[in-house]
Parts: sequence; C-alpha cells; structure tokens
Amino acid sequence: MSSINCNLLAAMIVAVGVFTVNPASAEEKSDPTSATAWSAGNVSGAGNFMSYCLPCHGPEGKGDGVLSESLDVKPRDLSNAGFLAPKPDEYLFKVVKTGGAAVGLTENMPPFVDQLSDEEIVNIVAYLRKEVCKCEFKKN
Ligand code: HEC
Repeated sequence: MSSINCNLLAAMIVAVGVFTVNPASAEEKSDPTSATAWSAGNVSGAGNFMSYCLPCHGPEGKGDGVLSESLDVKPRDLSNAGFLAPKPDEYLFKVVKTGGAAVGLTENMPPFVDQLSDEEIVNIVAYLRKEVCKCEFKKN
C-alpha cells in the first residue's frame, strides 16, 4: 500500500518537473512571432485568467463578468470558438499586452503590459485555447 503511494508520489514529482523546468520549450513558447506555437501545452494561465480577466470576461470567458454591466462596449465571449479560432496567437498576445485601443478596439479592453510578463500572457493565450474556446488557430 505505502509503496504504491510512494511510486505515485515519485511519478507526480517527475511529471511536475517536466512541466516546470524545461528551458527549451519555454523558449519556443515565448516566441511571439509564431501563429500557433503556444496552442499546445501550458495551462498555467488559468490563475492569471481568474485574477485579471474574470472581472470582465467572466469565469468561463463568456463576457459576463461583474464589471461587464458598467461597460458600454461589452467584453467579448472568449468561449466562442468561431470568434477566437480565426485570431492568431500573436494577435491575442498583442490584444492582451497592449490593450484594445492598440488593435483598433475600444479602451474598455485594458493593456496588461504592466501587470503581466510576456510569458504569463503566452500562458493565458494557451489557456484561452485549451480551456476557454477549446479551439486551435484556424484561418478563415
Ligand atoms: C475592464 C474589463 C476587461 C478586462 C479586465 C479584460 N478585458 Fe478583454 N475585453 C474587454 C472588452 C470590453 C472587450 C471588447 C473590446 C471591443 O470590442 O472594442 C474585450 C475583448 C477581448 C478580446 C477580443 C479581442 C478581439 O479581437 O475582439 C480578447 C481576446 C480579450 N479581451 C482577452 C482578455 C484577457 C485574456 C484578459 C485578461 C488578461 C482580458 N481580456 C481582460 C474588457 C476586458
């Protein structure tokens, strides 16, 4: 019994190690010029999504966060695969980093350049793909 638990624990430690300390893949993922490089893998954007995006976009990204009521232009439904799939990862990265106004949208979508590192934004984009829209980038 206890040896099974021990093996399980060891497997978990190895698994965590693979996901957190892998400099090669971290480097690949932080290349903001690739359209799809971030789609696979990292889901650690969840925590930051819940902290920074949930107030407007809601817990499931549907655009129904508590602050949405006070906004004239409403937060987008990020769970809508048809809406998010045609947008390349580097575009989503740019929207989050530099804000709506920088890409021709309203200022209601704020820039996160001061709150989030590039890597954290990459992880949020990966989270949007994996858990929110559940969609890969796909050209229209
Ligand atoms: C203060 C409210 C607010 C917060 C916080 C916020 N958003 Fe937004 N977001 C908006 C609004 C409003 C829009 C729609 C802007 C428009 O269409 O002009 C939007 C649009 C978007 C879009 C769609 C861009 C497009 O092409 O239409 C994405 C993607 C997005 N937000 C991601 C995020 C992520 C990720 C976070 C957290 C890091 C976040 N937003 C935090 C309000 C917010």
